[in-house]
Amino acid sequence: MSSYTLDINGQKQTVDVSDDTPLLWVLRDHLGLVGTKFGCGKGLCGACTVHLNGVATRSCQLPVAAAATGQITTIEGIAKNGKLSKVQEAWVEHDVPQCGYCQSGQIMSATALLSAVKNPSDQDIDAAMSGNLCRCATYTRIREAIHTAAS
Ligand code: FES
Repeated sequence: MSSYTLDINGQKQTVDVSDDTPLLWVLRDHLGLVGTKFGCGKGLCGACTVHLNGVATRSCQLPVAAAATGQITTIEGIAKNGKLSKVQEAWVEHDVPQCGYCQSGQIMSATALLSAVKNPSDQDIDAAMSGNLCRCATYTRIREAIHTAAS
């Protein structure tokens, strides 16, 4: 057991956990940030996507020790001052979610993409989002929403 002070959504949060505890479980079980979802636990589905230093990262595969010195952003941290982000607004406009379970991970990956590429092509979107699976197959609306958020 070790004590970690993490930078999450711009706030310092201290937890006492084992070094190899996946960040996903620190967020959900220790800090109550349950917007980040558990899907496969094996790095395959993208439901657990957060940002580590602005890069989309699978929190189920990231030991807390590896995240300790970085800036972590979760789905709870991308709306600012009570206002949805452009990506979130586009998600609402296009009514993207169906069951919704994967959508926080989708939004985190889309947000990271748009930070890196201002006007992504369909190919850019498909490449960046290919690791985020959606059992409801909302992929067409996801692509449209990303184009709207980029405009
Ligand atoms: Fe992490 Fe599926 S829960 S990739």
